[in-house]
This record gives sequence, structure tokens and C-alpha cells, in this order.
Amino acid sequence: MKKILITGGAGFIGSAVIRQLIMETNDVVINVDKLTYAGNLQSLKSVADSSRYYFECVDICNAEAMARIFHEHQPDAVMHLAAETHVDRSIAGPATFMQTNIIGTYTLLEVVREYWGKLSPGCKSNFRFHHVSTDEVYGSLGATGFFREDTAYQPNSPYSASKASSDHLVRAWHHTFGLPVVTTNCSNNYGPYHFPEKLIPLMILNARNGKPLPVYGKGDNIRDWLYVDDHARALRLVLDRGRIGEVYNIGGGNEKTNLEVVYLICTIMDEICPQGAPHASLITYVQDRPGHDHRYAIDASKIAHELGWKPQETFESGLRKTVGWYWANTDWVDAVISGEYQTWIQKNYGDRRLS
Ligand code: NAD
Ligand code: TYD
Repeated sequence: MKKILITGGAGFIGSAVIRQLIMETNDVVINVDKLTYAGNLQSLKSVADSSRYYFECVDICNAEAMARIFHEHQPDAVMHLAAETHVDRSIAGPATFMQTNIIGTYTLLEVVREYWGKLSPGCKSNFRFHHVSTDEVYGSLGATGFFREDTAYQPNSPYSASKASSDHLVRAWHHTFGLPVVTTNCSNNYGPYHFPEKLIPLMILNARNGKPLPVYGKGDNIRDWLYVDDHARALRLVLDRGRIGEVYNIGGGNEKTNLEVVYLICTIMDEICPQGAPHASLITYVQDRPGHDHRYAIDASKIAHELGWKPQETFESGLRKTVGWYWANTDWVDAVISGEYQTWIQKNYGDRRLS
């Protein structure tokens, strides 16, 4: 039994990790989340009553509150997922990205360093700080090649630049202070409980509501999609067995153009909801994202060979599960797209893509 402090546990990936940990292990979980527009406790309804689950509504930038949490809960490990995560928002307003992703990670590292430094020798050597990051730090690929762990950093968006900064801070705290860290860089995730501002949930909900499906540019940008539960399993494996100071790239081996993704969603929607067919008639080409990265693709051979990880879902099986989940969980959807999200979307996009 381990005590794992998870930051950002009310978000898309953090909540998937917590649901797995509570349902499949005896570990204790302390979820530290500020509950921004992207954090939703409804995503944790199935595990919230567990005696092994604790929730702290705290901003990771608040050093005093974070120190109190470490003191009270005495975790054996940290999985750091809290972040601002949407590229379009980082273009419209980068400030919160710099604050949470850079200053927040720095603040957390300092709190952890202080806590870890006072642990007994045994606890100190077993402690882990797992930093969860993105493949977007590597920049953009042309038609060929893959991101490897030794690919040079070339972040292009305010989001990826802020995540790259946080990766460097984590690396420096390991090399300078000896903090036992592991870092993972993962490709685009999809699945249930995904906030509907990102491509896949936005398209599912707009298709369901007969709204336009806004494809940026020509729709030929490529992402390497991974089902969120496969990512969560990879993260748990790296936390348990990853080598200290190492980086592991995680990816689905599912390269698709955005247009391929949207057409597949439309095909599944046509089956579920024939009265709306053909949903592909809703596809609308809109202005491209500034600085839009062309292609992401991960070489996941290191985690495969060292830790034996491979994804369980194919893109088609994962996408069918995802569309089915959004179809069946309108309560969750209604709760997350109310309030602040609607205001932000209205201000930044007008009626262009409101779902
Ligand atoms: P998300 O936006 O769904 O959730 C982020 C969570 O962090 C939310 O619950 C939010 O309330 C919380 N949070 C934000 N600022 C905070 C702060 N200052 N203090 C405390 N909590 C705060 O994000 P996600 O998609 O679950 O991503 C989780 C992590 O994984 C991020 O670090 C992201 O960079 C990384 N990642 C995401 C993807 C992806 O495709 N979604 C891929 C690779 C890596
Ligand atoms: P997104 O889900 O925002 O993830 P990221 O930018 O981190 O990869 O976008 C995935 C791809 O889909 C990206 O190439 C941008 C594109 N996209 C659209 O074409 N339309 C949309 O409405 C959104 C949100 C994204």
C-alpha cells in the first residue's frame, strides 16, 4: 500500500488514474486540485466514498497550503498532473499557463524538496516525484520520423513552452538536489470525462446536437491518439518501475489526420443516431490555429521494452467506447459545459463552435 498525492486529479487524465488506483489497488490517494473550469469532482463520483480517497481543494501555487498537505498526509509519491492544458486557451491568454505550469511546478518542487529532505533514509530512497508531461514539448514533425526521449525540445505554443519549462525544472531538481524524479511525455489522449473543448469530445457533442464540426485549416494535421485508460496504466507502471531520472515517451501508435478522426466519429454517430445521418455534412472548415503543429508521433519502444507496456485499445475500439460514453452521460456533459466554460467560449469564439 502506497500513499500517492496526485495533483490535477479532478481533470481528464488525473481522474482516470485515481479511478484505477482506487478500484484496482490498495493505495491511498490524496487528490490536490484547484477545480478550475477543467476540474470536475463528478468525474470521481464512483470512488469518492472510498476510505482510501482524500480531496484537497488547493492551488499548487500556494506553497503554505501545499506544505500543510504534505505534512498531514505524508505521501510516498507524487504524480503531478495539474496544469492548464488547452492550446487554444494558451493562445488567447497565456498568463494562467505560465502561472500554473511553470510557477506551480516550481512551487510544488520546492515543497516536495523540503518534505523529502526530512524523510527517514528508507522513505527518502523509495520516494518518487512523477512529472506528467506532453509530447508537444518536442515541437512539430514533418511527414516522417518519431519523437524519442532524446529528441530536442522545440515547443511552439504557449502551452507547450510552459510544459517544456516545467520538464526542465523537474530535470534540474533531480540533477541539482537529487530529487528522485521520473518524467513521462505522452501523445494526445481521448476517452470518457474529457472536457469538451478538445477535438474529440467537441466533435461528438456538436454532432449529437446537429452543430457545425469546426475543422481547423485543411484538417490534415496529424495526432497520435491514445485511450486515456491506457495512458493511466502506463503512468502507474512508470511510477512503480521507472528508473529514477529517466524520461519515458508514451504513445498510442495511432496516427490520424484530424479529418480522419472527425469522419470516424461521424460514421459511429450515423450508426448510433441514424436520424442525424450523414453527420459528416456538419463538417465546417474554419480558420487555422496560429502556429498549428503539423504532426505528432511517438516512438514508445523504451516503455514497451523496459516496462512491458502496450496499449490495450485500438483507435476504433477506444473511439466507440468514447462516443458511447458521451451518448450515455449527458448529466456529466451538462454539468461541465455550464458556467465559466460557456462564458469563455462565447467571448473567444462567439457562436462558431458552441456545443
Ligand atoms: P485537464 O485540463 O483535464 O485537467 C487539469 C486539472 O488540473 C484540472 O482538474 C484542474 O482543475 C487542475 N488544475 C489546474 N490548475 C491548477 C492549479 N493551479 N492547482 C491545482 N490544480 C489545478 O488536463 P488533462 O488532460 O487531464 O492533463 C493532465 C496532465 O497531463 C497535464 O499536465 C497535461 O499537460 C498532461 N498531458 C495531457 C495530454 C492530453 O491529451 N490531455 C497528453 C499528454 C500530457
Ligand atoms: P486539441 O484536442 O486541442 O489537442 P492539441 O492541440 O493539444 O493537439 O486538438 C487536436 C487537433 O485538432 C489539433 O490539430 C487542432 C485540431 N482541432 C480542430 O481542428 N478543431 C477544433 O475545434 C479543435 C478543438 C481542435
